[in-house]
Amino acid sequence: MKLAVVGGGSTYTPELVDGFARLRDQLPIDELWLIDPDPRRRELVGGVAQRMFAHAGHPGTIHVTDDLVTGVSDADAVMFQLRIGGQDARQQDETWPHEVCCIGQETTGPGGFAKALRTVPVILEAAELVRRHAKPDAWIVDFTNPVGIVTRALLEAGHRAVGLCNVAIGFQRRFAGQFGVAPDRIRLDHVGLNHLTWERGVHLRGDDGSERDVLPELLGARLDETAESVEMSPTLLRLQQAVPSYYLRYFYDHDLVLDEQKHSRTRAEAVRETENALLARYADPAVVEKPAELEQRGGAYYSEAAIDVISSILGDKGDVQALNVRNDGVFDFLPDDHVIEVPARVTRDAITALPVAPLDADMAGLVAHVAGYERLALEAAVHGGRDRVLRAMWAHPLVGQVDRAEKLTDLLLAANKDLLPWA
Ligand code: G6P
Ligand code: MN
Repeated sequence: MKLAVVGGGSTYTPELVDGFARLRDQLPIDELWLIDPDPRRRELVGGVAQRMFAHAGHPGTIHVTDDLVTGVSDADAVMFQLRIGGQDARQQDETWPHEVCCIGQETTGPGGFAKALRTVPVILEAAELVRRHAKPDAWIVDFTNPVGIVTRALLEAGHRAVGLCNVAIGFQRRFAGQFGVAPDRIRLDHVGLNHLTWERGVHLRGDDGSERDVLPELLGARLDETAESVEMSPTLLRLQQAVPSYYLRYFYDHDLVLDEQKHSRTRAEAVRETENALLARYADPAVVEKPAELEQRGGAYYSEAAIDVISSILGDKGDVQALNVRNDGVFDFLPDDHVIEVPARVTRDAITALPVAPLDADMAGLVAHVAGYERLALEAAVHGGRDRVLRAMWAHPLVGQVDRAEKLTDLLLAANKDLLPWA
């Protein structure tokens, strides 16, 4: 089996490689191709990846290249994990929205919109090469943010693609830890859009195979602990009878987060520091395992989630995983072609969203509002033009007012003029 990773020079790659090494029975890789334009990252990340495979006694080979066609040729599956403009662009996304009292975040709000505009054209170009050169039935597994918009761009262009995020698997692991059971004993009712999700059921499977929902306990006796883990108010969780992902903080605690952001360094700055430390570790020939510093990044369990989905596709397993897929009627208030993040059945030929109970009015309202923005954002990313950018910006629930949207549009275009093909 050949697997290709576009953006393989990411400092996250050893997280993936560690998973491939540990779970090689689940996903027997013969060749892993890391594709990246940055020669230094190819050398350092490729080098540590090769040492990790050798140290683990993995029989597969790891290759690096800057050539997409070479990298994806005859691949069985291709993962996308790229970041256009690197942490410098992220630093901008996290700061210019502050000028009009909006939070700065890499996937949510105006910053996430800027990331979508930079990213979608590059992703679509790479996906065309996958279509032409990978195996005809190869799937694209997208971890590139904003995952909802990027996945929809891929599906609209007719690619076999699925979007991946680690929020659901993170909750699953955390709840499993709290109840002292193996992660596969926990099944989540995970619903929403990427980075806009709630857990509405936490089903714990007992020794006899029967399930009981432990959410009432998480929102009852353990309420404070649960609320603290997502940094939101216990009242909010109690009233919604759900555990929101911490990305909901950017909506429900907007002004509080803005104030925190104004008084601390950006996530981009913190990540840059971690990345420098990681690259120094990767450069050390004695390093043959995933370094502990990687835990300071947000992508915990990303490798497990990726391996779960790829092995289910290739093995035609038909199991259920929380993924970004077409709506197809699951939320009756959204178009069929919208991309939602819900439990989905995974087979070789299709990944299909399973039905979910209707959303409560507050959740449905926010999901519909953000979905409207996402649709306009994809239009802007594919066709360009200031007016399209302005309309999508204005449509975002964290923007809303036209004057603020005008200012944010000017800031976005000024900060990204060298990274947008049409600007
Ligand atoms: C979580 C999200 C990812 C995001 C990451 C950011 O894992 O699900 O989509 O990329 O956090 O982590 P970072 O270390 O870059 O802040
Ligand atoms: Mn994510």
